[in-house]
Amino acid sequence: MSVPAPSADNRAVVTGASSGIGAALAAELAARGYSLILVARRGEVMAELAGELTAEHGVAVEVRAVDLSEPQPRAALCQELASRDIAILCNNAGIATFGAVAELDPAYEQAQVQLNAVAVHDLTLAVLPGMLERRGGGILISGSAAGNMPIPNNATYAATKAFANTFSESLRGEVAGRGVHVTLLAPGPVRTDIPDPADASIVDKMVPDFLWVDTVHTAKASLDALARNRMRVVPGPLSKGMSLAGQFLPRSLTAPVAGRFYRKLGSD
Ligand SMILES: NC(=O)c1ccc[n+]([C@@H]2O[C@H](COP(=O)([O-])OP(=O)(O)OC[C@H]3O[C@@H](n4cnc5c(N)ncnc54)[C@H](OP(=O)(O)O)[C@@H]3O)[C@@H](O)[C@H]2O)c1
Repeated sequence: MSVPAPSADNRAVVTGASSGIGAALAAELAARGYSLILVARRGEVMAELAGELTAEHGVAVEVRAVDLSEPQPRAALCQELASRDIAILCNNAGIATFGAVAELDPAYEQAQVQLNAVAVHDLTLAVLPGMLERRGGGILISGSAAGNMPIPNNATYAATKAFANTFSESLRGEVAGRGVHVTLLAPGPVRTDIPDPADASIVDKMVPDFLWVDTVHTAKASLDALARNRMRVVPGPLSKGMSLAGQFLPRSLTAPVAGRFYRKLGSD
């Protein structure tokens, strides 16, 4: 088998479903007929989205308000998911910080590692045995083009995304031929909302509109890629350029250039 068709019993899980790419993945999965389990911290935002998706597509939508950077609630969610029929897991929740690690809040940097790397690992390990037993499942992991290279002033994020990128592409090789698809989403900048010109970031100012991709396009491209068991999906020309530079230019060259740019982001 491959990614199972939607059924009354199975579920697609989306982490980070309360905004951005995660909300778009949830909407696209619902449009494709999947009943959902939405995960993020803001339960009320997800409850509103759940109501909309049920009204529009007639799917069941369950909400789990869980802080995935906290080991205990994360473990409880993993236990639940291990016992359910999970057709698709979108490991998408993530946060980023900009600036020198020594100057940033250590607790938030540690939470970033827990969320961007440890939670991705824990949730995948929770659903994988069931998927392999049923010989069907899809795991989409939101890594980043930032995970392809060292980035001073974005060190924790780049390192956690290197974990996500490598874990996804390695796992895919392990489960090949066993019915489980694994796809890495590794974008550069994805526009999650239209910025107010008054507080547009340096990235908003520098990147012309035609180079941006939006969350709806990103979600569709990601789920199409997962259905085809593509190794990696990189939406949009800017993401593709960043991805190629990060993968094929010498790291000694890309690190200082990226570091200077991200220092500006940190002081933005
Ligand atoms: N947008 C981009 O340009 C871009 C580029 C490359 C990679 N990515 C990756 O794509 C993914 C989605 O990005 P996005 O831009 O759509 O992000 P976003 O709009 O900031 O959304 C992040 C999501 O993660 C959830 N989240 C944050 N902390 C959490 C926690 N401790 N526990 C549970 N959920 C938590 C947030 O919900 P709550 O606040 O309700 O918890 C929210 O739903 C991330 O992994 C990101 O690194 C994004």
